[in-house]
Amino acid sequence: MGLFKNYINQTRKPEGFLGKMMIKGMNSGHAKMADWGMSYLKVTNPKEILDIGCGGGRNAAELLKRYPDSKVTAIDYSPLSVEQATAYNKEAISAGRCIVQQGDVSSLPLDDGIYDLATAFETIYFWQGLEKCFSEVFRVLKPSGCFMIVNESDGLDENSKKYEKMIDGMKLYTAEDIEKALKSADFSAVNTDHHESKPWITVLARK
Ligand SMILES: C[S@@+](CC[C@H](N)C(=O)[O-])C[C@H]1O[C@@H](n2cnc3c(N)ncnc32)[C@H](O)[C@@H]1O
Repeated sequence: MGLFKNYINQTRKPEGFLGKMMIKGMNSGHAKMADWGMSYLKVTNPKEILDIGCGGGRNAAELLKRYPDSKVTAIDYSPLSVEQATAYNKEAISAGRCIVQQGDVSSLPLDDGIYDLATAFETIYFWQGLEKCFSEVFRVLKPSGCFMIVNESDGLDENSKKYEKMIDGMKLYTAEDIEKALKSADFSAVNTDHHESKPWITVLARK
């Protein structure tokens, strides 16, 4: 595998030196998109938040900032992401406001009905069995809990199609694909917003 392909494949499950570089790049490179997505959140004062596929942990930190009364659990199946997100959120962890743990969204190591809000930034492309994974998110949310997905790709832009070919196990989804899978997992009030000039989408759904 060429170096660039090897590097770009670190988005799926970061590991090693290149994975560390990718995580740092994602923390800064995804910030604008993540903040744009968060601007659509209508949830008031969520106490328990779950950030799935947390990568380097920047978005977990941002959620803690936006919701000062909340606690955030950040989860990722990559041990390196867990290590990096732990370092990024060191102070919040010491203050008892953040937990970073390893886990796969297809079988979350979490109890039923805990979270007011679950978020997934730039990660669902890699989830194997989207409906099953969405059902897991549904299970861990409280009744009326909210799930927000933010993707840099609306599944139609040519640039992302190029990456889909290069990254093993990556699958692009249109807003319609995502909405359909959410409804199959029993979510309701499913709604998508599209960025005015970029292919970014944010999908909100309620348990
Ligand atoms: C492109 S990165 C995005 C990281 C972060 N959310 C951000 O916006 O910067 C995708 C992350 O999702 C994680 N991931 C992919 N599939 C996962 C799964 N099935 N369960 C948990 N984490 C997963 C990867 O390990 C990686 O850290």
